[in-house]
Amino acid sequence: MLQARRAFFDKAYYEPLSNTLNELMLAHLAPTQAGPVRILDAGCGEGYYLGQMQQALAPRFEHIQGLGIDISKDAIRMAARRYPTAFFMVANLNEPLPLADQALAGMLNIFAPRNVAEYTRVLAPGAPLIIVIPGAHHLQELRQTLQLLNIEENKQQHVADQFSDSFTFVTTRALSYELALQQPEIEQIVMMTPNYWHLSEEIRARMTALRSISTTVDFKCLVFQRS
Ligand SMILES: C[S@@+](CC[C@H](N)C(=O)[O-])C[C@H]1O[C@@H](n2cnc3c(N)ncnc32)[C@H](O)[C@@H]1O
Repeated sequence: MLQARRAFFDKAYYEPLSNTLNELMLAHLAPTQAGPVRILDAGCGEGYYLGQMQQALAPRFEHIQGLGIDISKDAIRMAARRYPTAFFMVANLNEPLPLADQALAGMLNIFAPRNVAEYTRVLAPGAPLIIVIPGAHHLQELRQTLQLLNIEENKQQHVADQFSDSFTFVTTRALSYELALQQPEIEQIVMMTPNYWHLSEEIRARMTALRSISTTVDFKCLVFQRS
């Protein structure tokens, strides 16, 4: 799954999302920050979005410190090797995080588990939390053709409700575009989603037989601010 993800990111298919996240973080970070500006990617996987963000924000702040957490040791090892100036930790997002109270200037959470109580504790007041979830049309042509998992309905409302007590909802940025995919990218994009855990022999055969497809990517970036 990690290898599929890394290979897919390396071809820049999700660079528009990475650029959008950098822009949103810059727009919502407090302008004058004393000391290191610490940004956590909670559920960072192999580190792509955090690595890109640290590089994009570095010229704007004196000391930007990217932090990544993931439960997967293999993911953290890959991330730490590729992005040596960021700091990566193996930890479970469902448990208390190895971070001090209000230590963070901002946080990313991209297709990964959420822990409202801990995110509330570790973010400084006013700090942005950017959550990325799939929109209703995410990979719809690919999902229909291969009969992959559906996107949860009302996900945005569900996330907004989860965070409503200790966060102010700021804005949603929708990002949608078409991808023309061939093998091996078709296999990579399937293997980097939760379908990886639910792949029957039948779906696997259909996936490897599919030579090309044009499919929609549909992301929703929800921006919250720690109250
Ligand atoms: C769908 S992947 C997304 C990875 C990354 N955010 C990206 O978009 O490339 C979900 C990630 O969450 C991590 N994860 C799942 N459960 C977790 C937990 N309880 N604590 C920490 N990380 C977890 C997985 O190991 C995986 O890297």
